[in-house]
Parts: sequence; C-alpha cells; structure tokens
Amino acid sequence: MQQFLAFLLSSAIAATSACTIPTGPPLSNNITQGFSLRLQNASYPDIHNHFLNIWDWGGGDQHLFVSPAGNSTSELQLIDGVITLPWDPPRRAVINGEYEPLDNTTKMFMTERGDPRAVWDVAYGCDPDTDALQTELAFKARGDELGGLMGVRPFNGMYDFRWKGPGTSVNDPNRPWVHVTLVVVYPGATA
Ligand SMILES: *[C@@H]1O[C@H](CO)[C@@H](O)[C@H](O)[C@H]1NC(C)=O
Ligand SMILES: *[C@@H]1O[C@H](CO)[C@@H](O)[C@H](O)[C@H]1NC(C)=O
Ligand SMILES: *[C@@H]1O[C@H](CO)[C@@H](O)[C@H](O)[C@H]1NC(C)=O
Ligand SMILES: *[C@@H]1O[C@H](CO)[C@@H](O)[C@H](O)[C@H]1NC(C)=O
Repeated sequence: MQQFLAFLLSSAIAATSACTIPTGPPLSNNITQGFSLRLQNASYPDIHNHFLNIWDWGGGDQHLFVSPAGNSTSELQLIDGVITLPWDPPRRAVINGEYEPLDNTTKMFMTERGDPRAVWDVAYGCDPDTDALQTELAFKARGDELGGLMGVRPFNGMYDFRWKGPGTSVNDPNRPWVHVTLVVVYPGATA
C-alpha cells in the first residue's frame, strides 16, 4: 500500500514537472545563428546526448555521424527547414544514399547537389533529463514526401543517420535503427 502511494505520488510529480511549452505562433523554420545538434534517446547511452558530427567524405560531401566519430560542428543553420552548412557552395542535408531494404532506411548526408532535402519544422520540447525547455527539429519531409522519422544505425563501429519511410513495417535486428530527437544547441550554452 505504501509502495502504491509512493508510486502514485511520484507519477503525480512526474506529470506536473513536465516543462511549460510556450504557446504562440509556430516557430520560424529559419535559424541563422550557428548551432550544434544534440541527440536524445535516453534508452541508448551510446547515442543519448551525443552530437551530430560531420565527416569530409570527399567530392565536397560531408557525411553525418554520431559523436565521437567525425568532426564536431556548431556552424549549422536551418534555412527553409533544411539543415545547412553556410559554406561556399552551401552543403545541405539530403536523404538519398545507400537505400537499405532490410529496414527501409535511406542515409542522410550533406551535399551541394540537388538530392531530395531533409525538411524539418522547429518545435519546443522538454529535456528528458533536466526537464529544461529545449528547441527541437521535428522531422517533416524528404523532399516532397511527407512523414517518416529520423534515426541512427550502427555503421562500422559508429552510427550514421537514416530516415525511415512512413508506414515502415520492417526492422533489422542485426543493425537496429534507433529513433532520435534532434535538439538545437547554441555555442556556449550548457547542456
Ligand atoms: C527563410 O530564409 C530564406 C533564405 O534567406 C528566405 O528566402 C525565406 O523567406 C525565409 N523564410 C522565413 C519564413 O523567414
Ligand atoms: C576534420 O577536419 C580537419 C580540418 O578541416 C580535416 O583535415 C579532417 O579531414 C576532418 N576529418 C574528418 C573525419 O572529416
Ligand atoms: C518503406 O517506406 C515507404 C515510404 O517511404 C512505404 O511506402 C513502404 O511501405 C515501406 N516499406 C516497408 C517494407 O516497410
Ligand atoms: C528510442 O528508440 C526506440 C527504438 O527506435 C523507439 O521505440 C523509442 O520511441 C525512442 N525513444 C524516443 C524518446 O525517441
């Protein structure tokens, strides 16, 4: 009985401690102040609170990996909902590589070429560890195709970024895909 009461009490605390999401118009899908992207999925310590890193893959492309693989960046911008490195020419995050039928996923990477772009909305959320208000990228579309989810998947001892199409019924138990939340972090901000 005591345990049950304690459970009720802790659920009540958990329910009331969710951070307050500001109301108002939708957030702009342009963020011109440079940022990093922190990943969240508290069930996966190898991924949770790690960062999206870039890797010079040749030919002007930057491939994307979960830190510590690759180089960290705080130069990212969001332009019309597209994650962009403001280089000359700009590199944009697209979804078009290495389609994998086993789990119906397609790789996200950054390029100057015109592949279908990964498009995001901007939304508030609550940090699952600290309950602080945070700004998140919410996946919206691959080019003109609405929906799906962004996650990461094991790749040569690292993790790369993979989009799973809407309505996907398959998963590869040998290479489990993990959904991640992407959190916008400005340089100098504490995690
Ligand atoms: C976002 O930025 C782009 C590029 O500068 C601009 O064309 C577009 O109008 C902006 N959108 C909004 C909603 O401010
Ligand atoms: C990291 O950045 C350095 C300096 O630009 C570059 O020489 C190196 O190739 C990059 N490493 C990766 C993994 O992209
Ligand atoms: C793969 O994703 C597409 C949407 O991009 C969906 O139409 C299709 O049913 C999915 N296939 C499987 C096997 O889950
Ligand atoms: C963590 O990943 C698993 C597997 O993809 C998923 O079922 C779960 O919803 C994810 N949790 C969050 C908070 O994204």
